[in-house]
Amino acid sequence: MSQQLPVRHLGKLAVPAVGYGAMVLSPGVYGEIDDDRAVTALRHAFDSGATFVDTSDGYGADGHNERVVGEAIRGRRDEVVVATKFGFRIPEGAEAHTFPVGYAFGELAVNAEPRYVRGYAEQSLRNLGTDVIDLYYPHFPDPRVPLEDTVGAVAELVEAGLVRHLGLSNVTAAQLRAAHAVHPVAAVQTEWSMWRPVDADLLAAARELGVGIVAWSPLGGGFLTGTVTEVKEGDFRQNAPRFSAENLAANNDRYAPVRAIADDLGITPGQLALAWLLHQDPAVVPIPGSRTPAHIDENNEAGRITLHPDTLARIAAALENVDVAGGTLI
Ligand SMILES: NC(=O)c1ccc[n+]([C@@H]2O[C@H](COP(=O)([O-])OP(=O)(O)OC[C@H]3O[C@@H](n4cnc5c(N)ncnc54)[C@H](OP(=O)(O)O)[C@@H]3O)[C@@H](O)[C@H]2O)c1
Repeated sequence: MSQQLPVRHLGKLAVPAVGYGAMVLSPGVYGEIDDDRAVTALRHAFDSGATFVDTSDGYGADGHNERVVGEAIRGRRDEVVVATKFGFRIPEGAEAHTFPVGYAFGELAVNAEPRYVRGYAEQSLRNLGTDVIDLYYPHFPDPRVPLEDTVGAVAELVEAGLVRHLGLSNVTAAQLRAAHAVHPVAAVQTEWSMWRPVDADLLAAARELGVGIVAWSPLGGGFLTGTVTEVKEGDFRQNAPRFSAENLAANNDRYAPVRAIADDLGITPGQLALAWLLHQDPAVVPIPGSRTPAHIDENNEAGRITLHPDTLARIAAALENVDVAGGTLI
């Protein structure tokens, strides 16, 4: 039986205030990890209250991440809200639609043509070992396909009972509005943390439409925990300018005043980062990822922390003065 965290709503979907981002559980993201450790971490996350798991058919090789999630939810599917995304596993013979992104990725390729969407969902259902996806997102808008068309194909999956709720990931406010007119959107997933401000227009549109916000990389890929002093070989952050040796050292110095606030409160910097996010909007749900049970407990505990308005003002002032070395992320 899982511990309970406070409940939040993404549209009509109820989830714990802190979810779990599973990307960290596939090799080649944050370095090496084996499946035993991955499944143990994920089951621990569920036991400790983070019963909202975020994966993608694009994480790990050949649906690896979804298969790990499938293993962890076996026998306890009803306890867990399962979210996954599609578009990166381009079928044989289908065209790759490339687009540039910053951060560690350079260029990405998707295909979110409506004709492939049912096949993506069926493959994800097989990987996950379930018959329904609770929240299904196109991972990135396809630069060659109107988002409304992709969303129309997901709406058909909702109609067919394969998917419960529609999500969008990495979209603009205008794209959210256009998609929501085709089918109600439960959640929009976007990067948001103490070192990556949210797109104000997207937040305003989500609030107006009653769409929840799922905050990805809420710990800034680990940086905001204050524990990252170097990034090793085989870790994707090696390609991220903010994590280069020089910029990382500068950023750690620049975030010292933020860490000092956590210290004064007797909580960890990571908990402050998550609690701060939870205080930005009642419909925001961070999805931190971790392979380490003690870290998972620490992160989930942040879902129960109340920050005083004076503390929030102090954080706002500290963040206003930080100029992050390494430019923008995406
Ligand atoms: N939609 C998108 O395009 C998109 C893009 C990126 C990510 N995401 C989603 O967002 C989720 C989370 O993002 P993320 O993995 O990039 O970044 P994150 O959650 O901000 O950071 C993960 C890193 O933080 C470390 N960490 C976590 N808790 C910690 C703690 N309490 N103390 C010390 N270190 C801690 C983890 O290491 P340990 O394992 O050692 O704890 C890991 O290295 C992903 O899993 C994915 O589901 C979505």
